[in-house]
Amino acid sequence: MLHCFKPAMQFRTLLRCATLSVSVGLSLSSAAAQESTNRLLIRADQGRFTISRMIYGHFAEHLGRCIYEGIWVGEDSPIPNTRGIRNDVVQALRRIKVPVLRWPGGCFADEYHWKDGIGPRIQRPARINTHWGGVIENNHFGTHEFLDLCEQLGAEPYIAVNVGSGTVQEMMEWIEYMTSDADSTLANLRRKNGRHAPWRIPWVGIGNESWGCGGEMTPEHYSDLYRQYSTFVKHFSGHRIRRIACGANGADYRWTEVVMQRAGRWMEGISLHHYTIPTGNWGRKGSATQFGEDQYHGALRRALEMETLVRRHGEIMDKYDPQKRVGLIVDEWGIWTDVEPGTNPGFLYQQNSMRDALIAGLTLNIFNRHCDRVRMANIAQTVNVLQAMILTDKERMLLTPTYHVFEMYTVHHDATLLPTELTCADYTFESHRIPALSVSASRNAEGVIHVSLCNLHPDQAAKLEAEVQGARLTRIEGRVLTADSVQAHNTFERPDRVRPASFNEARVTEQGFHVHLPPRSVVVLALR
Ligand code: AHR
Repeated sequence: MLHCFKPAMQFRTLLRCATLSVSVGLSLSSAAAQESTNRLLIRADQGRFTISRMIYGHFAEHLGRCIYEGIWVGEDSPIPNTRGIRNDVVQALRRIKVPVLRWPGGCFADEYHWKDGIGPRIQRPARINTHWGGVIENNHFGTHEFLDLCEQLGAEPYIAVNVGSGTVQEMMEWIEYMTSDADSTLANLRRKNGRHAPWRIPWVGIGNESWGCGGEMTPEHYSDLYRQYSTFVKHFSGHRIRRIACGANGADYRWTEVVMQRAGRWMEGISLHHYTIPTGNWGRKGSATQFGEDQYHGALRRALEMETLVRRHGEIMDKYDPQKRVGLIVDEWGIWTDVEPGTNPGFLYQQNSMRDALIAGLTLNIFNRHCDRVRMANIAQTVNVLQAMILTDKERMLLTPTYHVFEMYTVHHDATLLPTELTCADYTFESHRIPALSVSASRNAEGVIHVSLCNLHPDQAAKLEAEVQGARLTRIEGRVLTADSVQAHNTFERPDRVRPASFNEARVTEQGFHVHLPPRSVVVLALR
């Protein structure tokens, strides 16, 4: 249940530029800090890098109720659907402009054989999903269904191919089946199965977590395998496929070093996985909704580690790829808690609270600020699994607080990152300190500046004075996502407990603007 949070505020100066984060501690007394104003400088006269909309990507695995029930209900379902894909979920995901969707896993990818998932559904084989609950996978959702989903969403497909238990030939044939316009047996099989025109597959991931569930490989062994597989990713029909290598588990910097050194020249991206475990203990991760300040602060601290991870992996990549040709692809991230009581532990079904919204907001701010290297990210996972956008219960559906952050942040898609420098108070718990605020800013094609701000403090508001260099502002508008507690979440009985509202606590000033941020809030401002 809700614990009485006893906040402590200290002051720190944080300098944040497009690619730089320097922290200098300046301790003031707690009382002075509460009176003090946080400061932000936005360099609207600068901006060199584009925030790829791919940073706002998603991941859908054959795991629990993500694909089956969450997305695929079948053509005969009473739940309204288009060719078996539920309409309510597609409509909701279209509103957050899902740019790219990773599939079929995850660990599942390294035991998936694509030929199981084509042709008449009734004839598709039943397999055991050995990673996720040992349930029967009937393969009713396969290549055609996934690519139909992507077309319904307007999202680019990102296919993870099987390296762990597959073959190079199997991967080659899958790519030919999907993308060739030739008069070949495989392309004709696709036509026979109902799809005449080849699909465009812009992204292919070669293995998933090859250091773990994908084969327990060393980076040396994986690098050799990667080189072999990547050679046989052929570009049919004039379309180029970008190849993404399996990257590191969190802070395993050696993995990135070895793979970049040995195989960097044959890839367009290398991945990174980092999950936020509130307790830091994989055995007892902590509840999604019943937590105290220790797990609240712990989760934010661990989510903020993403800044160090992208910076340090990026530094290693700079050694082998100083032109930044290869993208860092954070293709699994998010909070991972204990499953909801009474649900299958193998299904990873968890609720989603205001804490999750703050984690999404601060993480997306980190990706935005590092968009010179971070070219794609995929939150885990889209529906009913881990930090989901959407939860379903038969015909019912709800939008999570995380969904709302993704919707509010669509303004950053493909906008130009504006460098920011933030000086803000700390939010301290016991001996742990984190900056209380998080920010990123961008300018879109119409010249509108958007600033996304998170106040991570659970119960103290923050005043922020912002200077905007190189722009004369006349108007400021905003939206806010907040709730009565950090544990607040949406349920099927009360689906709108946490939802965005319009925000009137920001004013244009001579220099820029000032804003009063409520505690535990995500605010997005539009400056004209
Ligand atoms: O997202 C759940 C699982 O987490 C994925 O299958 C795997 O890649 C990671 O360990």
